[in-house]
Amino acid sequence: MRILVAGGAGYIGSHTCLVLLEAGHDVVVADNLCNSKTESLRRVEALTGKQIVFYEADVTDETAVEKIFSEQEIDGVIHFAGLKAVGESVEQPIRYYHNNVVSTLTLCKVMQRHGVNKFVFSSSATVYGENEIPFVETMSLLPTTNPYGETKVMSERILQDVANVNPDWSVALLRYFNPIGAHESGRIGEDPQGIPNNLMPYVTQVASGKREYLRVWGDDYPTVDGTGVRDYIHVMDLAEGHVRAIEKLNEEKGVLIYNLGTGHGVSVLELVHAFEKANGLTIPYQVFERRAGDIAEFYADASKAEKELGWKAERTIEDMCRDAWNWQKQNPQGYEE
Ligand code: NAD
Ligand code: WQD
Repeated sequence: MRILVAGGAGYIGSHTCLVLLEAGHDVVVADNLCNSKTESLRRVEALTGKQIVFYEADVTDETAVEKIFSEQEIDGVIHFAGLKAVGESVEQPIRYYHNNVVSTLTLCKVMQRHGVNKFVFSSSATVYGENEIPFVETMSLLPTTNPYGETKVMSERILQDVANVNPDWSVALLRYFNPIGAHESGRIGEDPQGIPNNLMPYVTQVASGKREYLRVWGDDYPTVDGTGVRDYIHVMDLAEGHVRAIEKLNEEKGVLIYNLGTGHGVSVLELVHAFEKANGLTIPYQVFERRAGDIAEFYADASKAEKELGWKAERTIEDMCRDAWNWQKQNPQGYEE
């Protein structure tokens, strides 16, 4: 298939481009580079020995998206092109709602015009809100408490409504848990701008000496050791899940919803200790107050994806820690050589 990967230069997108190319698909990327660099795509090309067609384009811009569809024979779309910082979304709600919702609408509009009807969407476990654990696809969604999460709920609804009236459409809503790690080569990985919000990039920057110590946000949660518990998934497992999903859309119509997680919860301190063990390093940390908006514990019921997609996360926490550090070590300034 020839896949348009919107946001393909980013963290999850670049790994997915790599796996798509390795599986024999053709890749067209549209990215406005607001949170990435084309260097990631150059490295994917070097790793795979294959070419990517790249458009520097904002996918909220209908004219720009129309140009891509009129120049390329697209069979399906994977939409990663979102803004993703939860705290920033509270500060800048208009920017977040515009970018994340209008991008989905624009892609749908142009796809409909060109008879393209396979859509894979980057959703998030955040849509479950503070539900019972494990999170199951059949659960009613609860409020997410921030504009970022609401943009994911809205995009899911839009895609469901579009598929409901267009029986030829097939949509996969992929709810990711916490992606970490990097391609095992250490050539592509997560390249956060400024101070990382997320746990793993912060840990790797402490390991490299760029930050003094990790701030652990709370150790008084009702969890195994009092720190927050999440379902960390290796970004390469996640990327492989996308390829299975887009291939599934060739066989089935309608809306398919899948959790992409491992099904196992890991606490902040468990992750820190796994990182120390996997890499033979010490990560200094201090415990602080809970971070506003955090949930104590969540992880996936990952059985539906296994049953229907034949996909299961295979890589361990040790693999995630080793690969995250391998990337950071080789690229202390990210993609800026
Ligand atoms: P990322 O920021 O590395 O990648 C997003 C890419 O989209 C970037 O290359 C950015 O430049 C591009 N982009 C953003 N808005 C665009 C627009 N309007 N037009 C064109 N390009 C645009 O983020 P990521 O971690 O790879 O996340 C990818 C997707 O997965 C996002 O939608 C995110 O919300 C979702 N998601 C991420 C996580 C996570 O923890 N990383 C978890 C759940 C869901
Ligand atoms: C994990 C755990 C923190 C940083 C966020 C978004 C979510 C999704 C993934 C997109 C928590 C603790 C963290 C630090 C810490 N993104 N922590 N010190 O919050 O589960 O999810 O990213 O969809 O929507 O909300 O991930 O990596 O920020 O935090 O102690 O410096 O690590 O409190 O328990 P989170 P995270």
